[in-house]
Formats: sequence, C-alpha cells, structure tokens
Amino acid sequence: MSKLAIDGGSRVFAEDVNFEVWPPVYPEVAEKLTQIYMSHKWSFYGAEEMKFAENFAQYHDAKFGTFMVNGTTTLESALKALGIGPGDEVIVPSWTWMATGMAPLYVGATPVFVDGEKDTFCMDPAAFEAAITPRTRAVIPVHLFGSMADIEKICAIAAKHGIRVIEDCAHAHGGKWNGKGVGSFGDVGSFSFQQSKIMTAGEGGLCTTSDEELFDRIGRFSHIGYALGSKQGKPAAPPAMDLDCRNYRCTEFQAVILQDQLERLEADSLRRKANADYLHAELNKIPGIKTQAPGRCATMQSYYVFGITVDPAVLKEGKTKADVLAALNAEGAVEVFAGWGAVTWKQRLWNVSPERFRVESFETVEDIILNRIMLADIRWLNGERSLCEKLVEAFRKVMEEYSK
Ligand SMILES: Cc1ncc(COP(=O)(O)O)c(C=O)c1O
Repeated sequence: MSKLAIDGGSRVFAEDVNFEVWPPVYPEVAEKLTQIYMSHKWSFYGAEEMKFAENFAQYHDAKFGTFMVNGTTTLESALKALGIGPGDEVIVPSWTWMATGMAPLYVGATPVFVDGEKDTFCMDPAAFEAAITPRTRAVIPVHLFGSMADIEKICAIAAKHGIRVIEDCAHAHGGKWNGKGVGSFGDVGSFSFQQSKIMTAGEGGLCTTSDEELFDRIGRFSHIGYALGSKQGKPAAPPAMDLDCRNYRCTEFQAVILQDQLERLEADSLRRKANADYLHAELNKIPGIKTQAPGRCATMQSYYVFGITVDPAVLKEGKTKADVLAALNAEGAVEVFAGWGAVTWKQRLWNVSPERFRVESFETVEDIILNRIMLADIRWLNGERSLCEKLVEAFRKVMEEYSK
C-alpha cells in the first residue's frame, strides 16, 4: 500500500486543520456598529466613511480616498474619471478576475489582454509595451495574489506613451513597493473589500488618488454628481457635462469595520509575511516546486493567497497538477486549490462577443494556470507556524511519491 493518504496511507494532518475563522470579529467593533445603528445616520458619505477613506488613502501614501460599494465600480469610476470611453483601448492582464477586464467594457472601451511574467504572474511590462497602439489610453496592472506588478517600469512606459495608469490593488492592501504604498504609483488605485479580501466588510471598494481633480470626478461619479461634503438635496454645483454619475455609495457600518481592520493591518501583514517567508524558503527546496515570487521591489508584500507552482516536467508519467492537488487535499492540506482555472476571457462567466475585446498575448500565464498553479488560502498564513510546517511536509510527501 502506498504511503500517500489518497492511496489509503495515513494523513500528514492526523486531525482536520482548525483554521482561525476568517474574517475575525471583535466585540468593540460590534459595539461601534450598534452606536451607528442608533445614530440613524447610515450613509451619504457620513463621518465614518470620510474618516476611513482618508486614513486608508494616507496609509497607502495617496492624498485622497473615495469609498464605494465594491472593487468593480472603483475600476469603472477610475476609467470614467479619466475620460476613457468608446474608441479607446485599455490594456489589462490576461490573468485576473473578470472585473479588471469588464470595467473597460462598462465605459464603452476595448480591453486588450496581455501576458504576465513567469515568476510573479503579474503583467509583463514588455508585453504591455508591445500591445500599445495609437488608441491605447489606459493600462490596469493587477498586483496579483502574493506579488506586485513591476509598477515603476509600467508607469515609466505609460508616461512615455501618454497612457494613464490604474493600479488594481484588490489583492494588495497594505503592500509597499520601494517603501511606497500600492495605489499611489498610478493615477488611481482601486481596492476591493469583498468577503474574501485581506480587508473586508462583506462588500466595499475604494479609489486612491493624489490628483485633486480626479478625486472630485471620482467622488461625483460615485455620488450621483454631488461633490463630497455636499449636503443631501443641496448640490453646490453640477458635475462635469456627460459624466453620467451613479450611486455607488457605501455605508457607515462598513467604514467602521474597515477602519478597525486598517488599524490592525500592519501587524496582520507582518504575521502573514513571516509565515509566507517560511513557505518561500522551505517549499522552494522541494524539487519541482516553486513559489510565486513576491514583487521585485516589495518592501512589504501583502498576501491575498499564496501561489505555489509545480513543474509538470518532474512529475511521473500520467501525473498532473490535478493529481498533486488531490493528493495534498487527501493528506488533510485542505484549502489549497486550483484558482480561477482559465485566462480571464476563457472564464465561464466572461460571455462577451469577441469583437468587443482583443487578446494580444497570454501563453506564459495560461501554461501556469492550466499546468502549474496551486493557491493556498490566506488562512494558512494567518495561522500558527506549525500549520505551515505541516503544509510543507505534505508537499514533500506528495512530491516524493509523484516525482520521477
Ligand atoms: C483582481 C481583482 N480586481 C477586481 C475585483 C473586483 O472586486 P469586487 O468583487 O469588490 O467587485 C476583484 C475581486 O473580487 C479582483 O480579484
């Protein structure tokens, strides 16, 4: 009988993994939520929303923050505020959540998909530059999973060609590149606070910028045309002509939850980073296993999930990444999964006519997605070091059995 649990052997995790519940909750926040409830003032950019938006932006080295309903509307608002529209092209990564590709469609522009780097999986600056045409108006690099796009290089290329930059930071709360916060390099940074994210209020999103005019346009677009600070029913002045403003406001309740998480972010990020550093060191010793490289100039790499690749060339005949995953799961290493499973425009929910988008390059990331990637849930990083040690043991055991 094989020693692997999938073949009836004993598991590396004799007991089921007892993860910390995610996201954590605190009684003092519950008390604050009750106070908000009793105050009868729940939305319309109230004091808590304004305070959180400002603090979050400052934490990321940007001057202004606009809090809104999710990290999809933030991308749309950024594009709209930048004046991107029909006839324009927006370059996006081939490997991202669909929202990054959808946002250009919302404003009538064309998303153009480009390949990622083989070590960080984030947008390859060379692929970005190769995809530029006279119609390119914006680029949306994504700081993906547990890495960062080469944001300085991307901004330099964009500046050379007069292209605006929106950083999609949905996975990167608290991340720093050369000591400077993500979301402060491009024209606008876009964050998500959806249920699974590093900071979450169930839903929510936020745009950072240091450009006062953009801040005003983003604020008005998401606030049905009101300037931030306007009294309800008393707009001081109309928004710009044809901005076609929406109501994307969030609530005071969500702001209170997120403000608390912001205050804990640095300590939480350091705890996750310490576990991530351990996993990088130990997993990379296993032949055929390679972790997603953190951002090259990351001085604080935040982790949304932890990316691990297997080299199919080292696997025994007939064995694939799916077999490695199944064997790991059987060892009790649960919450290690395959991810979205396809490049953005091949995902099931992407049902867009081919003439509305363009695919420029994708081969590197498609190979990683189909044949190599395994993602470990954030709860592995939040937990005790002993959990990570067992995870490494499970990888070692499975790879010993499945490698040539
Ligand atoms: C990379 C990326 N961008 C944007 C979004 C959109 O955020 P939301 O779900 O808050 O709309 C998500 C995820 O959920 C994401 O993973």
